Amino acid sequence: MFARFRRKRINPVLRDLLQETHLSVNDFIYPLFARSGTGIKDEVASMPGVFQMSIDEIVKECDDLKKLGIKSIILFGIPDVKDSVGSDAMCEHGIIAETVKAVKAAHPDMFVVTDLCFCEYTDHGHCGVLDPVLETVDNDITLDNLAKQAVIHAKAGVDMIAPSGMMDGMIQAIRGGLDRAGYENLPVMSYSTKFASAYYGPFRDVAESSPSFGDRRSYQMNPANRTEAIAESVADEQEGADILMVKPALAYMDVIRDVKNNTSLPLAVYNVSGEYSMLKMAAKAGVIDYDRVMMETLLGFKRAGADIIITYHAKEAAILLGK
Ligand code: PBG
Ligand code: ZN
Repeated sequence: MFARFRRKRINPVLRDLLQETHLSVNDFIYPLFARSGTGIKDEVASMPGVFQMSIDEIVKECDDLKKLGIKSIILFGIPDVKDSVGSDAMCEHGIIAETVKAVKAAHPDMFVVTDLCFCEYTDHGHCGVLDPVLETVDNDITLDNLAKQAVIHAKAGVDMIAPSGMMDGMIQAIRGGLDRAGYENLPVMSYSTKFASAYYGPFRDVAESSPSFGDRRSYQMNPANRTEAIAESVADEQEGADILMVKPALAYMDVIRDVKNNTSLPLAVYNVSGEYSMLKMAAKAGVIDYDRVMMETLLGFKRAGADIIITYHAKEAAILLGK
């Protein structure tokens, strides 16, 4: 009598046949944090299972990732020296340039993405050069520096660049800089709709990138704004982005779907540090089944419209998907 939906849920094979959304190891990009030195692999207290690593350890880590079927990483750098402009990020021998060179030399088959921003490199921790009067980031000077940083990453051999600073016009500036330097074939994945979120807290411990004063609300988006969230991604599509992104993911499932429906580009989501740590800490407290909650969450991003998931869970999820 009440069999209309339930008769298709009884047989597990039929359940699998009818599954609408699928998660695959091909969906994942795994974040890694590089610092100078050798033999360094320091776990971060607020993110169990996430490490600051020296370049040699990152190269070794890529062996493990490939064994799990993970073929793409996104790199963040923690420089030895920070200054007002973030010089390390624009230097051919900076931490990210050296990491990209080492990884690509050892693993030509690893698809290496770099996060392109200045907050890890500036002594004030903001995502660009400061305007002394406004006491926030100067948009247009920062655009010039972003283009320089992009060319440094390109020369080092990166496979895709992911600008995360939420400067107006950043995609056009970076695309122009790359094209003029002869890197027309290098794709740009924009952090196109990025909110000023408290969920980045643990990341800033790992990346040592907390702003020394103020916050990022003069460049990252107000979490309350849905129309503007679409407009930000549409603008980056028009400026020439190849892939768009919504970040964070969990509290923004509606925005993921909106951006998917209002653009024609592939869409990434960033399952950010605070989202990861919440599951880790809840599991430690014994209140959730970690594996199941993790897989349900990742599948939810796909259902919402994500094509790519940047996630600290990638290794654990890859193991479960391989079973
Ligand atoms: C740099 C950047 C941040 C993240 C990715 N790139 C931090 C920030 O904007 O403060 C956050 C990632 C995470 O929380 O996992 N702009
Ligand atoms: Zn930044």
